[in-house]
Amino acid sequence: MPDVDDLKEGKQYHTETPQTTEGFFLKGSNSLDWGMKNRLARIFNPKTGRTVMLAIDHGYFQGPTTGLERIDINIMPLVPYADTLMLTRGILRSIVPPSFTTPIVLRASGGTSILKELSNEEIAVDIEDSIRLNVCAMAVQVFIGGEYERQSIINMTRLVDMGNRYGIPTLAVTAVGKDMARDARYFRLATRICAELGAQYIKSYYIDEGFETVTASCPVPIVMAGGKKLPELDALTMAYNAVQQGAAGVDMGRNIFQSEAPVAMIQAVKAVVHDNETPQKAFDLYTTLKNEGR
Ligand code: 5RP
Repeated sequence: MPDVDDLKEGKQYHTETPQTTEGFFLKGSNSLDWGMKNRLARIFNPKTGRTVMLAIDHGYFQGPTTGLERIDINIMPLVPYADTLMLTRGILRSIVPPSFTTPIVLRASGGTSILKELSNEEIAVDIEDSIRLNVCAMAVQVFIGGEYERQSIINMTRLVDMGNRYGIPTLAVTAVGKDMARDARYFRLATRICAELGAQYIKSYYIDEGFETVTASCPVPIVMAGGKKLPELDALTMAYNAVQQGAAGVDMGRNIFQSEAPVAMIQAVKAVVHDNETPQKAFDLYTTLKNEGR
């Protein structure tokens, strides 16, 4: 801390974190306003510049998918380990106690189910409700190349406008629909469109070839989407590769809450994201915590 004389001389308070008076620690965020930066700093740990988001919003189009049948029993024990919780306002209000201070990323789009064309979404939350819920960001699905591509892009730009008005960041989620076979070229296109049109950060799937070109050509942070359940070591390897290739963290759901030991798995993911732990060491941590019943 600066002492009184330092302050009189106009010296600035510097922490050991990457936050300085010269620049905000998060890629592409330097010119944002204070409230927006403050919300982003609650999502992304200022010490590492990364986040572990726990995504449990699947019910908004899938219903009670495996692992999310009882959020009170299965998910609440994981929340203290998550940097950020991504969910719908229905689950937030009905199940999560307001005394929980984990930053919330609110699912703000909806309107379709797995029985219909998924890209036919609308904005499904008023900005006033996001403010009322004290959220740190709002998430919207963007279907580049999808049947309702234009509509989903306009949903995003409208959410960005509303969020900008009140200092709430927008997370653009690049949605691949049922066809998961997308490559680096596709994700460069999708993430760049979202960034160009104003999203403050973007969620993209990991791909084995060229993921670093996706993060490099996107001017704002990218978080890696988890996707379908993989064996634990494979999921940790994917998260490790993503952050080493420029992702600012992960937004994982099924690979955590469908794990045999979800509490152990989220701690292993945190080790990979925040401590640059290797996949094998993180897997060893997972195994140890699992065997200890933690
Ligand atoms: C939908 C989403 C969900 O948050 C997403 O499904 C994340 O969870 P998972 O890691 O299970 O894919 O954004 O597109």
